[in-house]
Amino acid sequence: MKQVLITGGGGFLAAWIARRLAARGTRLRLFDVPGAPRTASDIVLPRHASQLDWRQGDIRSADDVRAAMEGCDAVIHLAGVLTPACSANPVRGAEINLIGSLHVFDAARAQGLSKVVYASSAGVYGPAHSRHPEPATHYGAFKLAVEGAARAYWNEHRIASTGFRPFVIYGPGRETGVSAGPSLACRAAVRGIPYTIGFTGACGLVYVDDVAEAFENALFAPAEGAKVFNLVGELHTIDAVIAEIRRQVPDADLRAEGPPLTIAADVTEEGPDELLAAGRRSTLAEGIAATLTHYRSLEESA
Ligand SMILES: NC(=O)c1ccc[n+]([C@@H]2O[C@H](COP(=O)([O-])OP(=O)(O)OC[C@H]3O[C@@H](n4cnc5c(N)ncnc54)[C@H](O)[C@@H]3O)[C@@H](O)[C@H]2O)c1
Repeated sequence: MKQVLITGGGGFLAAWIARRLAARGTRLRLFDVPGAPRTASDIVLPRHASQLDWRQGDIRSADDVRAAMEGCDAVIHLAGVLTPACSANPVRGAEINLIGSLHVFDAARAQGLSKVVYASSAGVYGPAHSRHPEPATHYGAFKLAVEGAARAYWNEHRIASTGFRPFVIYGPGRETGVSAGPSLACRAAVRGIPYTIGFTGACGLVYVDDVAEAFENALFAPAEGAKVFNLVGELHTIDAVIAEIRRQVPDADLRAEGPPLTIAADVTEEGPDELLAAGRRSTLAEGIAATLTHYRSLEESA
C-alpha cells in the first residue's frame, strides 16, 4: 500500500490507527480541519514523523476531500463530530457526519479506490433495542444513514466498505465527547484531582488499541460487500469502572452522575473475529492500567 488517507486524522482514534500503520511502514496522510489537535503527533512522533503528511481541509467540501485523497490508495474515514455537537446543531452534524461521508465515498469512486474503512458507532442502537438499530440521537441517525449509503455504493459502484460500530472507546487521548468520562477519570486519578463522569448505567468499553487493530486488519483484508461490525469490548457499569480505577489508584476521588447513554447496554459484539485477533482484546483492568500509565508518563515529563 503506497499511502493511506485518514480523515479526522488529528483525532483520538486516528492517532492510535496511525501508530499501528506507521509501525508497519505505511505512509500516512492525515486530513483534518485547521486548528484541530494533532493527537497522532503525541502518540506516533517522533519515531515516525516522516511518515505523517498533514493536510488541512473540511470534510464538508468535496474538493478538499478529493484533493486530500489524491495519490492515496486506501482511506480510513473517521472525521466527524460526536453526539453533543450533533444535538447542538443537527444540520451541521449532518453536513459533517453524513454529507462528509458521501464525499469520501465519491472521492474513492472518482479515484478508483476499491474500499472505504469507516467509523460508524454503537449509537445506531437506541435505548430500546440491542439488535435492531433504532437510533435515539441525531448522531446515531447520521451514522445509520452512512451505513445505508455504504450499501448503495457497493450495489451501484462496487465500492466495498467495512464499518465499525464501537461502543465507548477509552484510552490515552480520549478527551472529548460525553463518553470520554472513563478516560478523563483515569487522567484525573493520576493528577490527584476529583472528577465526575457525566453518565451512569452500563455500557460497552473497548480499549482504543483494540479498535485500532480492527481498523488495521480491515484495511489489509480482501474487500467485498458493505460490512458492518459491532465493537463492544467489555460490558460494565460505570460504578464498576470507578471501582477498577480505585483498585489501581486507591485514593482516586471519582463519582458518576447523569442519565445513562442512549444506547442499549446489552449490544453484543458481532462477527469481528476475522478482523479483531482472538485473544488480544484488552480487559477493563488492562485498558485502565495502560491509560493510567500513559497519563503518569505525561505528568512525569511535564
Ligand atoms: N470515541 C468513541 O467512543 C467513538 C465511538 C464510536 C464511534 N466513534 C467514531 O469514531 C470516529 C473518531 O472518533 P474520535 O473519538 O477519534 O473523535 P475525535 O473528535 O477525537 O476525532 C474526530 C476528528 O474529526 C475532525 N473533524 C470534525 N469535523 C471535521 C470536518 N468538518 N472536516 C474534517 N475533519 C473534521 C475533528 O477535528 C477531529 O480531529 C468518529 O467518526 C466517531 O463518530 C467514536
